Amino acid sequence: MLLDAPTNSTVIAEYRQRTPRSAELARAARELFPSGITHDGRFLRPYGIYVDAGKAGRKWDVDGNEYVDYFGGHGALLLGHCHPRVQAACAEALAQGTQFGANTAREVRWGQAVKRLMPSVERIRFTASGTEATHLALRLARAFTGRPKLARFATHFHGWHDHMTSGYVSHFDGTPTPGVVDGISDNVVLLPPNDIEALRRTLRCRDDIAAVIIEPTGASFGRVPTAEGFLAMLREATREAGVLLIFDEVITGFRVAPGGAQARFGIRPDLTTMAKILAGGLPGGAVGGRADILAHLDFHAADESGFEKIQHPGTFNANPVSAAAGIAALDIIATTDACDVANAYAAELRDRLNALFKSTRSLFAAYGTFSAFHIFLNPERRAIDPAAFDPASLPVQELKAAPRPLLERLRISLLVNGVDINNWPGGHVSAVHTDADMAHTVRAFETALFRLAEEPIL
Ligand SMILES: Cc1ncc(COP(=O)(O)O)c(C=O)c1O
Repeated sequence: MLLDAPTNSTVIAEYRQRTPRSAELARAARELFPSGITHDGRFLRPYGIYVDAGKAGRKWDVDGNEYVDYFGGHGALLLGHCHPRVQAACAEALAQGTQFGANTAREVRWGQAVKRLMPSVERIRFTASGTEATHLALRLARAFTGRPKLARFATHFHGWHDHMTSGYVSHFDGTPTPGVVDGISDNVVLLPPNDIEALRRTLRCRDDIAAVIIEPTGASFGRVPTAEGFLAMLREATREAGVLLIFDEVITGFRVAPGGAQARFGIRPDLTTMAKILAGGLPGGAVGGRADILAHLDFHAADESGFEKIQHPGTFNANPVSAAAGIAALDIIATTDACDVANAYAAELRDRLNALFKSTRSLFAAYGTFSAFHIFLNPERRAIDPAAFDPASLPVQELKAAPRPLLERLRISLLVNGVDINNWPGGHVSAVHTDADMAHTVRAFETALFRLAEEPIL
């Protein structure tokens, strides 16, 4: 649906009526940005809301509408919007300057904070984003092992650089996506998620794989959940084959537990990629892991051993404002039960939504682990019991499938009822969502379900 296209949907009509200033900005944005947006995950028809303020678990759009926010800064905001300690740390750093082109005391404290929470991180290198972190981790793995290929699991997301595009939402045969050359995609081996035999077979018959990378709790923060016991088997298989194991903890790090998924599941990866919560809601990422692997970024080690080091500049690596936010956030996470609180809220929300889906005879189900909730839209219209819904019983592609018209109508229906979820569809819960937020969310879903039932979905 185009921005101003006529509609017979009462929900979309109400949305337009509530959001005239967002519509005006969307019109201007269409003249600037492809689709009028700056991140694919923010695409919504007829247009998305424009937000100018947030506090704890809520945010406000430019028309003054209030939302319970489960977008959660794409997962960066475990502590919610404007946490006072994070804000104060940023304000102090901002007043001192944003870019010195020099080392800072804050980057040392930030690195120490990560190391304390994740013992597998013997050395760390900061980057400006999660995408940069997985890119660097891959390069490190290749330089360390001398092998060219990377193995990854279909549907898992590791950022948008050239090695990570095929097999995320498309090109499951490994062919390159537009703009990516064959040579790059040829060096990526795509594996079916949760299939330990396929992994073992691949590692047995090939000697060209440098590393296996995984989202430890499963694709898109558990939308396609990792099977129980899989991580331990993966660790064993990679160790036996001399292949590095990279945990992509860009979402799970400092969220599922203070020490991330590796602490929660007791697995020590060789490398870990981080971002989002790492930088307290500001831009930032990192690769951490074994000292002998990170040595490939080290001038001294290269001189002593005679190898050529990996070049890694980056204007905003460890920038002081992100460092300040990251130090504050990681300290709060290390010294409070923030992760447990968010996990418990999400578990209760999933239960309450499933009770609602059951009582209203909806075909949807809520599922997920830790502080995630995923809404299964049931594209094949299977008869399911939401409370007993088992994502492992369904094909991966079906779990990932979210029919766009239904997804968008659900999101718009929730927005007009004051709740913002993401496009999985689902959301990230924070540690500061309240009982009132929960009650509001369940009511909004209830109203949205009635509204959806009333109108034909195109
Ligand atoms: C698991 C995972 N890896 C990597 C990335 C890319 O991080 P960024 O968006 O900071 O580039 C994301 C982003 O959502 C992610 O969820």
